[in-house]
Amino acid sequence: MNFLAISGSARAASTNTAMLNAVSNITADDHIVTVFSNIADLPVFSPDAEGDALPAPVEQLARLIRESDGLIVASPEYVRAIPGGLKNAIDWLVSRDEIIAKPIVLMHASHRGDDMLAQLRLVLATVSDRFMPDLFLRFSLMNLPSGDIEDTLQNPPHAQQIKDFLKDFEARCMSDLA
Ligand SMILES: Cc1cc2nc3c(=O)[nH]c(=O)nc-3n(C[C@H](O)[C@H](O)[C@H](O)COP(=O)(O)O)c2cc1C
Repeated sequence: MNFLAISGSARAASTNTAMLNAVSNITADDHIVTVFSNIADLPVFSPDAEGDALPAPVEQLARLIRESDGLIVASPEYVRAIPGGLKNAIDWLVSRDEIIAKPIVLMHASHRGDDMLAQLRLVLATVSDRFMPDLFLRFSLMNLPSGDIEDTLQNPPHAQQIKDFLKDFEARCMSDLA
């Protein structure tokens, strides 16, 4: 399985990005997790720029999504909502065909952010027929440096949680297709 892990944070020291990077290093042999942390490269969405005028960073994200078997999304909460960069990326995707049948799950790197999570669940259930709200993995990593996040998640109980989560996601991706 080839999963694309999209971070909704544009911060270099993002805990969500560090968590997804750790996940990409913990996966079982038959899972590849590619982390997309370039949300800030996407220009502000306008329907005028769809079609032939599609900006290259949007084309790149769309291709990564097309080539993946499923998406893992992890994002901070900004002002009790989805950060503008992530919502902007979703706006770019909504009238294209990459995301509509794509399996999507959420991870989260904080004990806070439930207003954002509620909104993101609504938005993702709107853009994809295969958003799986019941499959969710959360760690409390707020304010930890990236190296500590890698170490924390490499601990056997956490690493096992991550492997089980990816296995469950794979099983759901397959059973939906059966
Ligand atoms: C502009 C801004 C607004 C924020 N608003 C909230 C908020 O409304 N609720 C909350 O719990 N945290 C809020 N936070 C804190 C972030 O959600 C939190 O630090 C998050 O873990 C950062 O994720 P990251 O490390 O992946 O960038 C805000 C942070 C910033 C920079």
